[in-house]
Amino acid sequence: PRVVVIGGGTSSEHEVSLASAAGIADALDPERFDVVRLGIRPDGTWTGPEGPLPGDLAGAVAVLERADVVVPALHGPRGEDGTLAALLDLVGVPYVGSGVVAGAVAMSKHATKAVAAAVGVASADGILVHDARDPRLAGLKPPLVVKPDRAGSSHGVTVVREAGGLAAAVQTALAFDTAVLVERFVRGREIDVAVIEHADGSLRCLPPLEIVVPEGGIFDAEAKYAREPDFRVPAPVPPALLAELEGAALAVFRAVGARGLARVDFFATDAGLLLNELNTFPGFTPRSQVPRMAAAAGIGYPELVEQLVETALA
Ligand code: DAL
Ligand code: MG
Repeated sequence: PRVVVIGGGTSSEHEVSLASAAGIADALDPERFDVVRLGIRPDGTWTGPEGPLPGDLAGAVAVLERADVVVPALHGPRGEDGTLAALLDLVGVPYVGSGVVAGAVAMSKHATKAVAAAVGVASADGILVHDARDPRLAGLKPPLVVKPDRAGSSHGVTVVREAGGLAAAVQTALAFDTAVLVERFVRGREIDVAVIEHADGSLRCLPPLEIVVPEGGIFDAEAKYAREPDFRVPAPVPPALLAELEGAALAVFRAVGARGLARVDFFATDAGLLLNELNTFPGFTPRSQVPRMAAAAGIGYPELVEQLVETALA
């Protein structure tokens, strides 16, 4: 089958996506798959192996029309948020991962929290603001976490420890999105669960992964990409917590209508489990969380990629 792998994109997570896409394209066995690599530059220009595609979007559509399956390995807005899924739906080509609605809902952390709450999965208390002068901000007590509603890789995220820093943190997040989440800082273990859909439609949770974060810190962009992140996989969790994590991950996966794969991120706190967010196309380099979880289940990176492609083709 001909597999088109798309990487890059116009979001702040462009570079991460290039690494995810390269990992995936390199892992597909050339004896079995005809791999075509497409890129989206930060300015939105579509590229092929020889540079900008003649006809740009129209040229990309021509390539996509000849694909058997597409791997949209994009992170962040205009890629992971349902927009690319919409294009692929219009072209009529199967693809790995979630469709329009799940992508759009999961891209908004605020919408995801609302959907999760409706199926009984809690998340940190917080408010959504659109202005650094929102009067409700005065009523919030640090420590707080301020995040753009629709972004990823912790871009634009600030931990606010003193009330005086809140307005500036909101302003920082507003550079990434028009909506900003201001949440209570959660103290707890950060644990991710990956959900993978098999070709027969059944869902499987991979072993959970714990991110070892220094006391009082967060898993920020620097910890994610500038240093070797400290992961514990499988996360050492008692059976009751494992069951709770898996139950919540599956419930949120189904509630947002995700397909193919997702990584559902939680905080395990003394007061119970809190959902952080769901990523419909999580980081996918061989060293990223989901491939590490698969490895802990005895599934190698090429096998994992192949499984996702098979599910999309089924
Ligand atoms: N948004 C980044 C790529 C992640 O979730 O892994
Ligand atoms: Mg994310």
